[in-house]
Amino acid sequence: MNKLYKSAFTASLLLALAAGLQPAAAEGQPKVLILATGGTIAGVANTNSPTGYDAGKVKATDLVAAVPQLRQLADCHVEQFCNIASQDMNSDIWVRLSARVNEALLKEGYNSVVITHGTDTMEETAFFLENTLQCDNPVVFVGSMRPTTAISPDGPSNLYDAVHVAVSPESQKRGVLVTLGGKIFESRDLFKNDINHVDAFSSRYNGPIGRVDAGDVHYFANPIHGERPYWGIPADAVLPRVDIVHAYAGCTGDTIDAAVANGAQGIVIAGTGNGNMTQDCLAGVKRAVEKGVIVVRSSRIPHGFVNRNHEISDDDAGTLSSYDLSPEHARILLQLLIYHISHEPSPKYQLDLQKCFESGYFVNK
Ligand code: SIN
Repeated sequence: MNKLYKSAFTASLLLALAAGLQPAAAEGQPKVLILATGGTIAGVANTNSPTGYDAGKVKATDLVAAVPQLRQLADCHVEQFCNIASQDMNSDIWVRLSARVNEALLKEGYNSVVITHGTDTMEETAFFLENTLQCDNPVVFVGSMRPTTAISPDGPSNLYDAVHVAVSPESQKRGVLVTLGGKIFESRDLFKNDINHVDAFSSRYNGPIGRVDAGDVHYFANPIHGERPYWGIPADAVLPRVDIVHAYAGCTGDTIDAAVANGAQGIVIAGTGNGNMTQDCLAGVKRAVEKGVIVVRSSRIPHGFVNRNHEISDDDAGTLSSYDLSPEHARILLQLLIYHISHEPSPKYQLDLQKCFESGYFVNK
């Protein structure tokens, strides 16, 4: 364990002992699985690193041991799922993570799952699980913006909040949730809107749906979307390559040709405004569609809907529009849709793809 972290950790443990906390879980407490995946919440100072710290270093057991107050909330079990900076997350890990959470909730008697994760791609992993989990028990993502060795790390209080949200009866049937800085968000419209600040997350539409204030969990909004999506996926599934092409003034269609040449089966355009792009890009999109690649128009703008046939004719271009989904979220949904179309060509998967983006859900149970 890094020296600095060791002293912070030892200080936390001493404080916990001074507070006279119970060493073991009390009977009848909800059973919570804490799956640690890395990120700044497990980060440690490194004077040789240009960023000042390395994400994904502290072990899961040490993270949880540093917040002994968790024992007042739940019977917490800890598992190190991986220990990486979240820019290295990928769909292979998502598929395994989703399978592990399903197993914990459906077969191992856990009431809820808390997942510690880097904030950089948390919105993506949370949305993947939102679409692939099979039950309505609370699943709560949490991270931090400051590493464990910072003067005032936000990880321990965020972790406490996340477990509190996970055991709150009001968190049932709300889909996959994300907590940071005392706010609770839904995964579908979450995005990271600040590179440095501890209050780093925002919602594209509704704002946070709840808060954790002075130890209480308060919800002040109903779930945006009524019914949970479910795109069941086997634990060894290999998802298709779907690329995002970012549109900008002067963007050329050969970026789209390159994605197709690299094997993309789907492409999401992070378009200007209402999913727009240059004429040259649009010609590239049409070439991709002719080759059987599914192209979704989304937007690089964080708020607003990309409507079908609004400024670009999707009917003419053969494209889909993402509606409320960000390019990153549209990419995940497209990966799942292409996987299902290509692996299960039964009539129930003859999908109306555009509808899957409009409604956000296609319940195929
Ligand atoms: C990461 O996403 O792993 C690094 C940044 C963070 O956790 O805030």
